[in-house]
Amino acid sequence: MERIGVAVVGTGWCGGIRAQACAANPLVEGLYLAETRPERLAEVAAATGARLATSDYRQLLDKKEISAVFISATPEGLHYPMARDFLRAGKNVFLEKPIAIELAEADELILIARSSGLKFSIGYSQRFNPKFAYVKKCVSEGTIGKPVSVLVSRHVTRSLGKKISGRVRLSPAAMEATHDLDFVLWCLAPSKPVRVYSQINFGAMRESMGEGVPDQQWLTVTMEDGLSFVVGGGWNLPPGYPNFSSTWIEFIGTEGALMVDDTHRDVMLNTVAKGAAFPISTMPGESLGHVYAGPMAAETNHFVEAVALGRPVLVTPEEARQVMAVYLAADLSAEAGEPVTLPLGNKG
Ligand SMILES: NC(=O)c1ccc[n+]([C@@H]2O[C@H](COP(=O)([O-])OP(=O)(O)OC[C@H]3O[C@@H](n4cnc5c(N)ncnc54)[C@H](O)[C@@H]3O)[C@@H](O)[C@H]2O)c1
Repeated sequence: MERIGVAVVGTGWCGGIRAQACAANPLVEGLYLAETRPERLAEVAAATGARLATSDYRQLLDKKEISAVFISATPEGLHYPMARDFLRAGKNVFLEKPIAIELAEADELILIARSSGLKFSIGYSQRFNPKFAYVKKCVSEGTIGKPVSVLVSRHVTRSLGKKISGRVRLSPAAMEATHDLDFVLWCLAPSKPVRVYSQINFGAMRESMGEGVPDQQWLTVTMEDGLSFVVGGGWNLPPGYPNFSSTWIEFIGTEGALMVDDTHRDVMLNTVAKGAAFPISTMPGESLGHVYAGPMAAETNHFVEAVALGRPVLVTPEEARQVMAVYLAADLSAEAGEPVTLPLGNKG
């Protein structure tokens, strides 16, 4: 068993979870952290017993002991240059979504990874959510027959909507529905998307965050075999719990139907101080001491195992690029008010 050095770059919310999972993984020989907020860097370094903690990620590029890097920094414009630097330095890279801002950047990253024989995966964590994995299993095994129609609707709280739209102008399709686009395209593969129609809904976010910031976005995607599915992503739910996430899935086939409730209404806490709340309801999940509730720890361990044990990654960068082409087409469609055909020009 080969133990590996692992780096986490950006130890905010997700990076903190990644670092904790790596620290607990027996395949991780040493943990290296980069974070620009000194107090957060010190906090995560102390909690994980990190071997090195720096404010400048470039100090990690030439560390031979590091084999795998989790890039969890924001704003999202950092994803491409950081991933490019680590891939060029010969490191296996796990990059939070989105893979990049521009398709050409995604193409460059994929090219570097493929030509160097490096593992490169993107954080579509919901594939590690057992309910989503169950749908994939049913579709793959033919339990519901041939897929006929799919709907996935996701909403998160406006605190998260404000956090995201306060740092980057990426749409709900690019930042929320992206998880469910990845999930449905994964289930329907090898069929490919050929057309996208999208509309954006405005409301509370425009009032608090300014013109142009939407609340929610619907996407209708048509596949090459004629099946169409609908995915929606929104970020204006009233506070229920920090980052409360609510998802509903309908997957209908010729021989059966799957209805999946991932709305996290099954655990309710009511306190005198704060009233009703829905704990254990964030999208990446959270540590409950001896057990982790949610997909992100399993996803982190999967990438560590892929690198240490030479196994394939579940999410390929080509799949993430396909998802990106769909949500870019959705944004173009919402702007133009008409369907957009894939591939996008000569780049999509
Ligand atoms: N898979 C999921 O379920 C999921 C959930 C939420 C967010 N995300 C993705 O994960 C990423 C991180 O989101 P988050 O909510 O953890 O963000 P965050 O803002 O909480 O954390 C990002 C961290 O990066 C740090 N940072 C900024 N510049 C840096 C630099 N140059 N070097 C090192 N660190 C730097 C910031 O100080 C911050 O602590 C986002 O891109 C988001 O799209 C994924």
